[in-house]
Amino acid sequence: MPRHELVTIDHHILESQKLHPEATGEFTNLLYDIALAAKIVAREVNRAGLVEILGLTGEENVQGEEVRKLDVYANETLIRMNEFTGRVCVMASEEDPDIIPAHPDGKYVLIFDPLDGSSNIDYNVSIGTIFAIFRRKTTGDSCSVEDCLQPGRALAAAGYVVYGSSTMMVYSTGHGVYGFTLDPSVGEFLLSHPNIRSPQPKYYSVNHAYVRRWSRGVQEYVKWLQGEGDDAPELSERYIGSMVADFHRNLLAGGVFIYPSDAKRPQGKLRLLYEAAPLGFLAEQAGGYVSTGRENVLEVQPTSLHHRVPVFVGDRRLVEKAEEFIQRYDVEGGT
Ligand code: AHG
Ligand code: MN
Ligand code: MN
Repeated sequence: MPRHELVTIDHHILESQKLHPEATGEFTNLLYDIALAAKIVAREVNRAGLVEILGLTGEENVQGEEVRKLDVYANETLIRMNEFTGRVCVMASEEDPDIIPAHPDGKYVLIFDPLDGSSNIDYNVSIGTIFAIFRRKTTGDSCSVEDCLQPGRALAAAGYVVYGSSTMMVYSTGHGVYGFTLDPSVGEFLLSHPNIRSPQPKYYSVNHAYVRRWSRGVQEYVKWLQGEGDDAPELSERYIGSMVADFHRNLLAGGVFIYPSDAKRPQGKLRLLYEAAPLGFLAEQAGGYVSTGRENVLEVQPTSLHHRVPVFVGDRRLVEKAEEFIQRYDVEGGT
C-alpha cells in the first residue's frame, strides 16, 4: 500500500498562509475557529438521536420556517466561537434577522447557514454548515450591514462542513478546493481530497415536485438534462434536499444542482449570502460555474441580508445551457 503524508487541517491552513508573507495569522486562526466549531456541531449531530435535541423548538425563523433544536445549537456554537476572538467584526446568520456584532477591531466578516438541510435533521439524512468570509469594508468604530452585503466575487474564503456518513470540511481561499475528513478517534480533520476538480458530469439534482410551477425555459432545460435533444448529456438524477449534501456529491462526482425560481417563489428559495455565493465560489474553484439562469451569481450585489436568488450550480457546460434555455424561452422579469 502506498504511504501518504498525514496532513491535518490546521497544518494545511498554516502551510497555505506561507503563500502570503504579509499575512498576520488572523485569517488562519479564523479558519481554525470554524473547524473547531464544526467539530462541536458534528459531535452533537452524531448523537442527536440519543439526546433530547431532535425536533422543533416551536418557533419560526426570519424566513418563516420552523426552527429545529439543532439549528439553534449550531447557530449558537458558531456565534460563541467567533464573537470575542477579535478576528471577526460582524456576523450574519441565516437564522437571525439582523447582523450580529462581534469585535470592533475584527478585520473579517463571517456569514453562515448554521445548519443546511433542516428538514432532514430528524431522519438521519446528511446535513451541513455553510460559511463565507469577507474582509471588512467600513472603517468606523463598528461594522455595519454594509460589510455583509458584498458580492461573492469579493469572498476571501468559503466552505462547508457536511455531516454525512463521515464528517467532512471542504474549503477554498481562492487557490483550489481542499477536503478534509474528520477522524473521530483523534478528533482531527485530515486531508482526504486535495485540489478537488469536478469530473465529467454524472448527476443532475432538482426537486421535480415543482415541475408545474417552473417557467417554460426551466421545464425545457430539465427535459434536456433528462436526455432530450441531440446535444443532451447522459445523466442520472439524485436529490437529497440538503443543498450542501447535494452540492458535495456533485462536486466530487460531477453534475449540476438547480433550485430555480417558480410561480410560488419568484425569487427562488436559496439565499445568496448563506448558500448560493459560498457554494458557487467553491464550484468555480473546482472548474465549474454558478448562475441565476441570467447572470453569474458571484457578480450579484446583495441588497439585503436574506436576499434570495435562483441557483444553477456545478458543471460549466450544464449551467451555461440553463442560461441558454432561459434566454430563449423566458421573458426577462418573468419566471
Ligand atoms: P435550510 O435547511 O438551511 O433552510 O435550507 C434548505 C434548502 C436547501 O438545503 C435545500 O436544497 C432546499 O432547501 C430544499 O428545498 P425543497 O424541500 O423545496 O426541495
Ligand atoms: Mn440552507
Ligand atoms: Mn439553515
